[in-house]
Amino acid sequence: MTVKVLGISASPRAGGNSDLLLHQALAGAESANAQVEYLRLCDFNIAPCIECNSCFKTGRCQIEDDYQLLMKKMLDTDRLIFATPIFFMTVCAQAKILIDRCQCLWAHKYVLKKPLIETKSRDRRAMVIAVGGTKSKKMFDSIRLTMKYYLDVLDMKYAANLFVNKMEEPGQIEKHPNALKEAFRLGAELVTTENPLPEKPIDIELT
Ligand SMILES: Cc1cc2nc3c(=O)[nH]c(=O)nc-3n(C[C@H](O)[C@H](O)[C@H](O)COP(=O)(O)O)c2cc1C
Repeated sequence: MTVKVLGISASPRAGGNSDLLLHQALAGAESANAQVEYLRLCDFNIAPCIECNSCFKTGRCQIEDDYQLLMKKMLDTDRLIFATPIFFMTVCAQAKILIDRCQCLWAHKYVLKKPLIETKSRDRRAMVIAVGGTKSKKMFDSIRLTMKYYLDVLDMKYAANLFVNKMEEPGQIEKHPNALKEAFRLGAELVTTENPLPEKPIDIELT
C-alpha cells in the first residue's frame, strides 16, 4: 500500500531554510515510494482560535475557513513532515494558528471522549523540522513540547526531529555540509522504517 506523506511548510519565506529542508525530506520520502503532498500555510486562510469552546459540545470548529480542508489532510495522511522557523524561541505564528485550531480535535478526544475515526488503528508518524538564526541551549525546547501535544491530538507518533542552528539568510541552508542530506535521509526513513519506534523521537541537531 502506498504511504501518503503530507509536508506542511509554515515559514512565510518560500525557499527559506526550513522550506528547503522540507523539500529534501519529501524528496527522500518519494525515493522510498511514498505519495507526497506539499503545502505552504501562507497559501491558506486560517483564522486563530477564539476559544468559543463550541467544540467542547460538537467536537468540531465552528469557524468556516481553510482549516477544515487542512484538518482533513492532517487526519488522512500516514506521515506528516512539519517544518517551521524559530520565531521568538518557538514555532512561527502561521504554525501556531494551525496548531491552536486543532483544539477541536483535542475536545473531540478528551472532552467528548470520541476516537478520531479517520486515524483509528493506523500507523501514523511525524517528523519535525525547525531552523533558527542563532544557537542557544534551550532553543528547541518549546518546539519539542508544542509538537508533542499537537501530534498527540492528531494520533501521530513523534518519530524524529531535524533542528538546525545558525541559519539566518534565506537559502543559507544550501551551504550547510550535511543538513539537506540529513533531511532526505530522515524523510526516506520516516516512510520505510520497519523497526519499532524508539520511545523518544530521533533527535538530530546540526550547526
Ligand atoms: C520574528 C522573528 C523571530 C525570530 N526569532 C528567532 C529566535 O528566537 N531564535 C533564533 O535563533 N532565530 C530567530 N529568528 C531567525 C529565524 O529563525 C531564521 O532566520 C530562520 O532561518 C528562518 O527560517 P526560514 O528561512 O525557514 O523562514 C527570528 C526571525 C524572525 C523574523
